[in-house]
Amino acid sequence: MFAPRLVLVLLLSVVPDALAVPAQLPLAVADTRPARKLQGRFLHITDMHPDPHYKLDASEKSACHRKKPKNAQPRSGYYGMPYSDCDSPFTLTNLTLNFLDKEWTSEIDFVIWTGDSARHDNDRKNPRTTDEIYMLNRVMARKMEDVFLSKGIPVIPCIGNNDVWLKNIMLPGPNSVTSEFSSIWRSFIPFESYQVFQRGGYYSAEVIPDAVAAISLNTMYFYDSNKAVGGCEPGEHEDPGNLQLDWLEVQLQAFRRRGMQVWLSGHVPPSADNFFPDCYVRYTELSLRFQDTILGHLFGHMNADHFFFLEAEHLEKYPRKKASASVDWDDPHSESRKGLYKTLLKDFEDLPKTAKNISYDDYGVVNVSPSVVPNPYLPSFRIFAYNITGSRYVPSIRVENERTKSVGHCLGNISDRSCRASKWHSHPDSPSRTNRLWTPLGYAQYYLPKLDAADKNHPPKYKLEYLTFPVSGLHRAGADEAPWWPIPLRHLPKSLRNATATASKRAPYGLVDLTVPSWTDLAQRLAKGAEKKLRKRFRRYMYMEVESA
Ligand SMILES: *[C@@H]1O[C@H](CO)[C@@H](O)[C@H](O)[C@H]1NC(C)=O
Ligand SMILES: *[C@@H]1O[C@H](CO)[C@@H](O)[C@H](O)[C@H]1NC(C)=O
Ligand SMILES: *[C@@H]1O[C@H](CO)[C@@H](O)[C@H](O)[C@H]1NC(C)=O
Ligand SMILES: *[C@@H]1O[C@H](CO)[C@@H](O)[C@H](O)[C@H]1NC(C)=O
Ligand SMILES: *[C@@H]1O[C@H](CO)[C@@H](O)[C@H](O)[C@H]1NC(C)=O
Repeated sequence: MFAPRLVLVLLLSVVPDALAVPAQLPLAVADTRPARKLQGRFLHITDMHPDPHYKLDASEKSACHRKKPKNAQPRSGYYGMPYSDCDSPFTLTNLTLNFLDKEWTSEIDFVIWTGDSARHDNDRKNPRTTDEIYMLNRVMARKMEDVFLSKGIPVIPCIGNNDVWLKNIMLPGPNSVTSEFSSIWRSFIPFESYQVFQRGGYYSAEVIPDAVAAISLNTMYFYDSNKAVGGCEPGEHEDPGNLQLDWLEVQLQAFRRRGMQVWLSGHVPPSADNFFPDCYVRYTELSLRFQDTILGHLFGHMNADHFFFLEAEHLEKYPRKKASASVDWDDPHSESRKGLYKTLLKDFEDLPKTAKNISYDDYGVVNVSPSVVPNPYLPSFRIFAYNITGSRYVPSIRVENERTKSVGHCLGNISDRSCRASKWHSHPDSPSRTNRLWTPLGYAQYYLPKLDAADKNHPPKYKLEYLTFPVSGLHRAGADEAPWWPIPLRHLPKSLRNATATASKRAPYGLVDLTVPSWTDLAQRLAKGAEKKLRKRFRRYMYMEVESA
């Protein structure tokens, strides 16, 4: 019913009406993707970190590159070393992508792939090179093409902090990094986005033509470990972070005018700890100003499963960085990683205490997915389900001139109140606030337990770790069609296939959908602490069953 159109709109409409016919004639371009029926699901996969030097029976100390360990020490397995410092052998990335190929490609509509497709620089005796980083990215990109793109499933990749050399450092574009990734990701990046990608390493793509777009952000220009950029300083018009946010604003405006919805994705999550202060404030402001157009924020990098909020309050009172400025999330043993659970609970406790006291306009939700690399936990991926039957949200469109007074001296000067756009596009009926067409309904997270028990002849098996749905929400009646399962029955454990099943440890949150109110409600329940098991499970899923904080 939503078969991709055979034309691509080359120029954006400037007609201030979502339903008007585009002002420019669409350029007829044959869409080579096979037409597919929408399934109402997509995959989020991140941080694969393939390592070509990975060896069997090696020590963790050598990054699984050499040396048999002393007797009692764990040694690297055929499919990887769980809970370790080591990266992914190709056996693991292949097992994962072959599993997705076989079991999931017929069930999903697009793929969000949030970066770090090269190994870590964790072996002094064998430092990374630019060539190796690009080679690994090419290998992974070809595999993603084979598995997904060849079947007509769009893939949206992002640049990670380990996808560049030196790690974390990326100069303003165009440069060799943007030019190399333009080539590596040629088949993923739509023609219209090619030029902007070559300059900045970011782009947008319509994953459901004329309805839903995904934006791949280049978070290297926001990440405070990137010493090659200034970090969105007010008035710095040429700063690559400011240029990217200017571009993002134009994108959001254009998609909004067309009545479309957008997923934002990137590698490093937009937190006060990770982003330069001015980038964080501008990102937060845009996220809230376009809340009625943004379905959600999907990120990776942290390798620990969690969520947090972008809050209007932070525009007035910038949150202090919680950890030292030089936190290295690539160090699996860093104290701040262990402290993340407590930090999050503290943030949740600072929310208004009840639903009545929350102004939903003031929140955006960031979802951070754990990694494929078992460093420092277990391999995993997420399947999101979203509403494909509800009614479309039509934003109210007017000539928006309030922004014209806020450019100029105000560029990037968001902390100055008078500079802020007066009108925020938020609405209780928008898909990020109410379950309707395109609203995310929930996700199921799969993981590879018993990775250490696996060997060449006994490959590990992906299993459901947990899902956000209430058990009763796993069997939904589609409007006038056959019943629709947000997660296909065969991908549910037997205990969840029974419509009369009630509570389950695999369904700890009972979220009826993934709207802003559902997430703030979960955060309030976690903060309250009245449901004992809830916190326990939240933490267990965050650290994948290990680690006591
Ligand atoms: C992984 O899969 C690719 C093909 O997609 C193949 O060329 C490669 O040999 C495989 N590697 C391993 C270690 O299985
Ligand atoms: C930011 O705005 C304030 C108040 O209008 C102004 O004094 C200041 O010069 C601006 N900063 C920059 C860098 O433009
Ligand atoms: C919550 O909202 C109610 C009604 O608006 C108000 O009376 C109450 O003081 C608020 N509580 C807090 C803690 O802000
Ligand atoms: C999709 O949204 C409509 C409202 O527009 C609602 O009636 C329907 O139940 C939703 N579908 C699912 C599967 O939640
Ligand atoms: C579902 O669960 C109920 C209660 O545990 C049980 O009586 C019923 O037989 C189960 N149905 C199926 C199809 O397994």
